[in-house]
Amino acid sequence: MLSPKLLADLHSLWLEGEQHDAATQERRERRLNITPDTGHLLYQLARSSQARRIVEIGTSNGYSTLWLALAARANQGLVQTLDILAEKQRQAAANLARFDLSKQVELICTDALAWLTDAPLYSADLVFLDAERTLYPAYWPHLQRILSPGALLVMDNAQSHPDECRPFVTEVLATPGYLAETYAIGKGQLVILKDC
Ligand SMILES: C[S@@+](CC[C@H](N)C(=O)[O-])C[C@H]1O[C@@H](n2cnc3c(N)ncnc32)[C@H](O)[C@@H]1O
Repeated sequence: MLSPKLLADLHSLWLEGEQHDAATQERRERRLNITPDTGHLLYQLARSSQARRIVEIGTSNGYSTLWLALAARANQGLVQTLDILAEKQRQAAANLARFDLSKQVELICTDALAWLTDAPLYSADLVFLDAERTLYPAYWPHLQRILSPGALLVMDNAQSHPDECRPFVTEVLATPGYLAETYAIGKGQLVILKDC
């Protein structure tokens, strides 16, 4: 159960991120966190689907990872979260420790495509995609492989960056066996169910 104190602490971390991002122009330094309602959605989807093997592409300072890790803890699962920048993952490690969620998360500092290329068949129950949007079409064949039957994939920024997301969305919609819909939550969430 998410206590009022935990929710308030998560909100403080998000506010701190918003203030940080408003004060810096350098993209690599910005946190670019999901919105709190997106966190709620991720927690609800992961918790209710009893996802135990959760993959996140784009850790940043771990704000979204915390929501996934809370669901993983309830489900006796694990989050594997990928980021290409070591400094971002250092920040995430500190936040996970602060929320006592380090045991629920494996931090992997790598290029997402390189990691996905070696990831095994049916190894994920839920994937959260929040990194370099123009690269997503190259991820899709690997994502299809790692998603287990009935698994979910959530992609952030479907409405905030529709042009960058369009090639990926078009490919997903053209792939048989997947049911996808965009929901007006936060920056727009494309939720894909592997229905095969
Ligand atoms: C939008 S931020 C993630 C925000 C995070 N999900 C949150 O809500 O707290 C995107 C992250 O993707 C990472 N990233 C960009 N390209 C990547 C790649 N090719 N492989 C892995 N991570 C990448 C960036 O370093 C950045 O930290």
